[in-house]
Amino acid sequence: MALYDKKGPIVVKEEPGVTFYCMCGLTEDAPYCDGSHNGQGTGKTPYIVRFKEAKTVRICGCGKSEKLPYCDGAHGQDEK
Ligand code: FES
Repeated sequence: MALYDKKGPIVVKEEPGVTFYCMCGLTEDAPYCDGSHNGQGTGKTPYIVRFKEAKTVRICGCGKSEKLPYCDGAHGQDEK
């Protein structure tokens, strides 16, 4: 399942270190970049975050967030 096929956020607990989040929606390893953006003409590159400490984050799974790669609650706005 690709990243933006989901109806809500993907909640992940990250450990200290560097993480690459998918920004193109083509990854098969959501929410992480798996290199699928290469050669697909997406013009997208992964969003790189360096975590200094363990942290739980909510990554957008629907593709509607205006704060990608993070969830901003936009997934629920069509259901009203
Ligand atoms: S696979 Fe989507 S940004 Fe790399």
